[in-house]
Amino acid sequence: MTGGAGYIGAHVVRTLLDGGDDVVVLDDLSTGRADRVPQAATLVKGDIGDRDVVRRTVREFAVAGIVHIAAKKQVGESVEQPMLYYRDNVVATQVLLDEAVAAGVGSFVFSSSAATYGMPDVDLVDEDTPTRPLSPYGTTKLVGEWMSRDVAEATGLRVLALRYFNVAGAATPELSDPATLNLIPLVFRELTSGSRPKVFGADYPTPDGTCVRDYIDVRDVAEVHAAGLRQLAADPDGPRFRVYNIGRGEGSSVLEVLDVIGAVTGFDMTPEIVGRRPGDPARIVGGVERVKRDLGWSARYELREMVESAWAGWQQRG
Ligand SMILES: NC(=O)c1ccc[n+]([C@@H]2O[C@H](COP(=O)([O-])OP(=O)(O)OC[C@H]3O[C@@H](n4cnc5c(N)ncnc54)[C@H](O)[C@@H]3O)[C@@H](O)[C@H]2O)c1
Repeated sequence: MTGGAGYIGAHVVRTLLDGGDDVVVLDDLSTGRADRVPQAATLVKGDIGDRDVVRRTVREFAVAGIVHIAAKKQVGESVEQPMLYYRDNVVATQVLLDEAVAAGVGSFVFSSSAATYGMPDVDLVDEDTPTRPLSPYGTTKLVGEWMSRDVAEATGLRVLALRYFNVAGAATPELSDPATLNLIPLVFRELTSGSRPKVFGADYPTPDGTCVRDYIDVRDVAEVHAAGLRQLAADPDGPRFRVYNIGRGEGSSVLEVLDVIGAVTGFDMTPEIVGRRPGDPARIVGGVERVKRDLGWSARYELREMVESAWAGWQQRG
């Protein structure tokens, strides 16, 4: 598995170990931390774009399936430095796919993103909704899907592309998201530094005027990787490539999230309403029927549990 020292990857590692799998993590620790990888897994420190390291790792450990999570993920940075994103998210994924096929790896689970959809003008985005990414980040995730789809069609590899929506929460405080890029940690940072939470636009065509998103607990995200790998192993003649939305299928507005954060943290949540950010869709909520039907997976955790567990992590980091 790649990226297992990161926020989502560290949760996936634990879920796979709990299910009895042997796990090897290839991670360059650029945003990940070695202490997030449990002792029961093997950590190889290396870059997924480094063909020698990838080849050696896949062969030495006789890898049967790859969960490919390592990537760059900052939308703004991808606009400023697109080549960094093409290098890590596209070129490195090509190296990994090449080496996986050459070594006869059977399954490949790819971390994609709802950012592949861009600004869809529908209430519920399903996997057939046209993909029109608005940033190099979203584009590179879509290219990753296309590459893995085409490789799957041409070889024996079987691929699941998982388009995560807004991932939040943590299994334990130590595993919480160290980045402050998403709404919940951003609000924690504002609150604990004495600022009011900022709301970027309250004039969207949504019930309360603020943007609506689909929040999904990282523990549920981890679980769907295990379900996906199990399904690939159980049905060797199934489709070569499938794509799934990974969300709750329910939208929460920014003001609704702030309400929950207020209830959990006890902070005054009177927001500061500022202008819209360019490129923010009014509403993006995933239709999740397909993953439920095919993998028997659906989300178990509620928004409040995500906020509570993320807040426990935030407090622990001081
Ligand atoms: N966090 C979210 O809300 C979200 C939403 C949609 C999709 N995703 C996708 O999920 C994946 C993981 O996200 P995350 O939030 O855990 O990010 P993260 O930054 O915490 O984890 C990424 C991991 O990959 C490693 N890595 C990065 N580049 C590497 C390289 N070239 N070689 C080896 N290792 C490398 C990092 O060290 C880190 O451990 C990414 O692919 C991201 O695009 C995340």
